[in-house]
Amino acid sequence: MDIQLKDQSPVELATACLVIGVHHEAPLEGPAKQVDDASDGAIGRLIESGDIKTDRGATALLHGVDGVTAERVLVVGCGDAEKFDRVRFHETCMAAGKFLREHTVTEAHVCLHTLPVEDLDASWRLRQAIVAIDMANYRYEATKAPKSDDPKPLATATFAGDDTLEAALEQGKGLATGYRAARELGNLPPNICTPAHLARYAEGIADRHDNCSVDVLKRKDMAKLGMGALLAVGQGSANPPRLIVLRYNGAGDDQAPYVLVGKGVTFDTGGISLKPRLGMEEMKFDMCGAAAVIGTFEAVASMGLAINLVTVVAAVENMPDGKAYRPGDVITSMAGKTIEILNTDAEGRLALCDALTYSERFEPAAIIDVATLTGACVVALGHHATAVMTRTDDLADELVAAGSAAVDRGWRLPLWEDYDSQLKSPFADMKNVGGMPAGAITAGCFLAKFMGKQRWAHLDIAGAAWKGDGREGATGRPVGLLTQYLVDRAG
Ligand code: BES
Ligand code: MN
Ligand code: ZN
Repeated sequence: MDIQLKDQSPVELATACLVIGVHHEAPLEGPAKQVDDASDGAIGRLIESGDIKTDRGATALLHGVDGVTAERVLVVGCGDAEKFDRVRFHETCMAAGKFLREHTVTEAHVCLHTLPVEDLDASWRLRQAIVAIDMANYRYEATKAPKSDDPKPLATATFAGDDTLEAALEQGKGLATGYRAARELGNLPPNICTPAHLARYAEGIADRHDNCSVDVLKRKDMAKLGMGALLAVGQGSANPPRLIVLRYNGAGDDQAPYVLVGKGVTFDTGGISLKPRLGMEEMKFDMCGAAAVIGTFEAVASMGLAINLVTVVAAVENMPDGKAYRPGDVITSMAGKTIEILNTDAEGRLALCDALTYSERFEPAAIIDVATLTGACVVALGHHATAVMTRTDDLADELVAAGSAAVDRGWRLPLWEDYDSQLKSPFADMKNVGGMPAGAITAGCFLAKFMGKQRWAHLDIAGAAWKGDGREGATGRPVGLLTQYLVDRAG
């Protein structure tokens, strides 16, 4: 989608579709008022008659409005003005974007972000409008033939605003690119999106952007490093694992990098502790942590943020096989700690612990891992929030604040040492499952054992990463939260 700013009166602007917002039972403001004035009160009359609804997300498409150059005007209901907060603003922009997507509007001029939203500034409103409109326009098409009557996507979107919003425009575009990348990788089927595919995709990013490089570690490299946990997860698969290391240098070499670590289980059958068959196809999304950190990397690189960033992806497939690891095995992680396997379906923490140990070599400013780690996280928070776990209070605050600012919310769960006792094993330094109580937290406690005093947080995105039993596809979350966190650090 081509995205640009356009600073011109909405009534004089030549566009296929002008998109304006109206609040419920409130005087018309901004572009809606300008259109109303130019059309001798047409908008007001249509609201009065009930032909334009002002409920949040309602849409009405008008043709040939008097006094307006635009071919069509899309009037979007914004609900009560006093309740129009960041979440409702996002949903309203998504509703407008969906309408445009479903009605073959290939070019539009968007003004929704000229309405006030809490006390958020014009830059924030523009950026989030771009993200929402682009998000609503995404369709998965990689492995199906388009039908001739499929509505065409929005090809060009202009947004109301002048040159002072140039930086916000670039941020919006970068975020949109990052979200798209994460969703597309998430949605690809597991026979295509293998560890090798993720590695190739990362290589493509490094080629496309300045100041980027990539290293891809294979089995023998992992063996040399002693990554016994990551290797164990992958040993039953014909698609060999990859450790993908993307680097972006946007600041001086003396600046400690931020490190993002992603769980990239390209398919999780559960292994020998096989999952039930119903819904197993959803486990193609078990690489959404990897997709999100790769998407965030792409967003940061395309924005040219003044930070150093390393993205580490543990890409691996968890399969049952004659060579697969089994319950009862004791494996040795890169950190030298031994782990008794009680359930081969708790594989994500095993892949991650070695990736976390590997990440310490970068002497990071902070390490954040992102993973579809536990079904228990879905039980705790549902599909609305990313779980934020860390033993560093101010890091938790920073991440939760970033999520709120990006309308990609996270919520903290405790990571108290009290839970550690659930991981005790008579045969190894720890076992890989902590039992039924607080399953999301004990998974976090497992990872914490590999992190020492490092500034580190774990994000469980098992609920946030995809929607509707997987049929609505990957959300790209938490690209927004992570990118905002990094934008805030770039100062
Ligand atoms: N990838 C799953 C977690 C998951 C399940 C995410 C459902 C989203 C939806 C993970 O590898 C897993 O299987 N976790 C187990 C852990 C258990 C064996 C301790 C789980 O949550 O059941
Ligand atoms: Mn699993
Ligand atoms: Zn998994």
